[in-house]
Amino acid sequence: MKGVILAGGTGSRLHPLTRITNKHLLPIYDRPMINYAIESLVGAGVDEIMLVTGGTHAGEFLRLLGNGNEFGVERLLYAYQDKAGGIAEALGLAEKFVAGDRCVVLLADNIFERSIRPCVEAFRRQRHGARVVLSKESDPSHLRHLGVVQFDGDRRIKHIVEKPADPPSEFAVTGVYFYDETVWRVLPELKPSGRGELEITDVNNWYLGQGLMEYDVLEGFWGDAGESIQAYYSVNDFVRSRAASQEQ
Ligand code: G1P
Repeated sequence: MKGVILAGGTGSRLHPLTRITNKHLLPIYDRPMINYAIESLVGAGVDEIMLVTGGTHAGEFLRLLGNGNEFGVERLLYAYQDKAGGIAEALGLAEKFVAGDRCVVLLADNIFERSIRPCVEAFRRQRHGARVVLSKESDPSHLRHLGVVQFDGDRRIKHIVEKPADPPSEFAVTGVYFYDETVWRVLPELKPSGRGELEITDVNNWYLGQGLMEYDVLEGFWGDAGESIQAYYSVNDFVRSRAASQEQ
């Protein structure tokens, strides 16, 4: 399974911090945000990775990560996204890299307490389709900034609603997605959303429509550090206090 890390975008929700650097290079406790994404994939046994980024600071990723060997990456490739056209557009740049294989896609601003290894293993066993990773979030004001699932009576996902005014459940879709080879046929069919981007939620809803989507619920802390300045600091607080308790 190939890993695709998405680290582009303008990071507008963290302006003005992100006017002078890429969001994924901002610190989370003692290292840049992007390091956690690399560690998540390597820790889950995925060591062939493409990092997709863009903007004027793209070169810094190369300076920080080099060929990735120091981080346990076997093969690290880079792709450059010309303009910030959304997560699904960024994923399209990885098509030739993934070719003939399946992929796990990780948004580089997502920080997890627990390993995503069990999800990677579950997808290896899944015959086809896609897989999302959910996290329980009880605060509706937080859910309104995320993708949220709607379940049917059998606890299967019916639909994912992006940034719902009225969240249909307490389960948010995190930034870890698994896709089979079909995804490359889905991406060209997408239409830009209200925010002018190709949305990953539209890709996931396509799979749901085909009955080809499975999910895991990941326990423990999960944060999207790019969601807001508050979220950025709560992720920092979590990582810092975990490090402090491990040092004791
Ligand atoms: C994206 C997805 C959203 C998901 C979130 C997780 O949102 O569109 O469904 O819940 O990542 O980090 P964005 O960060 O692009 O607003």
